[in-house]
Amino acid sequence: MKPYILAPSIIASDFVNIAKELAICETAGADWIHVDVMDGHFVPTITIGPLFVEALKRNTKLPLDVHLMIENPEAHVKSFAEAGATNITVHVEACRDVRKVIRQIKSLGCGAGITLKPSTSIKEIEPFLSMVDLVLVMSVPPGFSGQKFMPKMVERVKYLRKKLDAIHSKAHLEVDGGINLKTLPLMKSAGANAFVTGNAAFKHTKGANFGIREFKNLLVKTKITA
Ligand code: DX5
Ligand code: ZN
Repeated sequence: MKPYILAPSIIASDFVNIAKELAICETAGADWIHVDVMDGHFVPTITIGPLFVEALKRNTKLPLDVHLMIENPEAHVKSFAEAGATNITVHVEACRDVRKVIRQIKSLGCGAGITLKPSTSIKEIEPFLSMVDLVLVMSVPPGFSGQKFMPKMVERVKYLRKKLDAIHSKAHLEVDGGINLKTLPLMKSAGANAFVTGNAAFKHTKGANFGIREFKNLLVKTKITA
């Protein structure tokens, strides 16, 4: 089993004080920084681009787990790789040629991830499972932080865990959207090993430091239920 990974999503952080927010993530024990890139076309929101990823790279030693919620990612993966992305995850719905984009990401020295909207059939990503370093299961529709967790996606994680194990894949199985102290154990028991959390960490009443530490403790302590 791969190590458990906590990846706070900076979309929910204070962009004006991003260096401070990154330092909090590091001291609180985050493993990755999840970077939600949105273009206002694939999803309604516009967030950040490669220039901001470069700034992140200058302000943290943590791996940058870049989630591209953009149309035509083929045209942009190079600039995100050059900006310092560690992983680059693309949406199957946005790619003209998924195999080509995965190969392109890997040729740039980044981990290649594939993901899909909750409304997209799981069949759409199955042909690519043997090629990728990361599979991202979204438990909210892409585009916004702070949405309600979709319990049906627990089954999707269980299904993908079995599929990845059957091909002896070493890929991370990451979950993203509405992950909090209640939903994380469900996804962990289902077989996920990487957990994105935005609101639950950064908007915690006791602050992000406390929120992230709570998640880390939970990850270490949660028992796997059958
Ligand atoms: C949604 C993003 C998620 C989301 C996570 O499109 O991909 O990373 O911002 O935020 P929470 O944990 O608040 O759902
Ligand atoms: Zn994300």
